[in-house]
Amino acid sequence: MGIALVTGASGGIGRAVVRALVRGGATVVAQYHAHRDPVDALRAELGERVIVEQADLRDPVAATRLVDGVVARFGALQVLVNGAGAIRDDLLAVAEIEDFRALLDLNYLAAVACARAAVRPMMRQRFGRIVNLSSVAAHVPGRGQSNYAGTKGALEAFTRALAVELGPKGITVNAVAPGVIETAMSEEIRALAGDSIRERTALGRFGTAAEVAAAVAFLASEEAGFITGQTLRVDGGFKLR
Ligand SMILES: NC(=O)c1ccc[n+]([C@@H]2O[C@H](COP(=O)([O-])OP(=O)(O)OC[C@H]3O[C@@H](n4cnc5c(N)ncnc54)[C@H](OP(=O)(O)O)[C@@H]3O)[C@@H](O)[C@H]2O)c1
Repeated sequence: MGIALVTGASGGIGRAVVRALVRGGATVVAQYHAHRDPVDALRAELGERVIVEQADLRDPVAATRLVDGVVARFGALQVLVNGAGAIRDDLLAVAEIEDFRALLDLNYLAAVACARAAVRPMMRQRFGRIVNLSSVAAHVPGRGQSNYAGTKGALEAFTRALAVELGPKGITVNAVAPGVIETAMSEEIRALAGDSIRERTALGRFGTAAEVAAAVAFLASEEAGFITGQTLRVDGGFKLR
């Protein structure tokens, strides 16, 4: 699988993605922002095939530096997983425009900046896999999610447009849209509305980070070479009923 960069690797889903990619044979650069301990623990668990890097990806210069650093160090980049993200739910009438800008910087523009830096080395290789972490909120948002849903909708449109652009170069671009997954990010919503979420999920439960990671690892694999521009929902059938 070669060299992979996973952003948001200190998060619940990011950690599971790093595990899945290393298991698939990749060397993984694991980016964190404020919490180093989880990625250090991954390196202790998985060994030298995990390389730890810090970056604040709200800054596109830092995002570019991160990707360029991976390419300079390894001379290649086969897989980019844009997993860094945050949620900032509020009703529009009381939300600030600055909240929208902050979330757009992290959930959308950070992925754009990382992809932009990754595209050249991937084109040289005539191979690449880009997987963006979206959300079911882009499709079936809850109340107060206009900010978060907007950023993920943008990310999915970007995914499709980039797939068109990069297909001829042998690079696939896909998104995974998780439902409610048991990580720190969804702690509050699970506490507030857990029963009704389970009730509206065909499988009747929350998902695990490992279940999302399995989908990401598949889309990042060589075997997924004829799949591009897609969003794979890993949501247990959320709001199907
Ligand atoms: N959990 C869910 O239910 C769910 C559902 C749908 C979609 N998703 C999406 O899946 C992705 C991963 O979610 P998760 O549940 O793993 O979230 P999480 O546990 O809260 O992790 C968030 C990750 O983003 C990183 N991050 C935050 N601010 C950053 C910044 N300024 N620069 C760089 N990285 C930053 C965090 O790094 P530090 O901790 O080191 O600061 C962490 O690694 C996100 O894109 C999220 O929107 C999650």
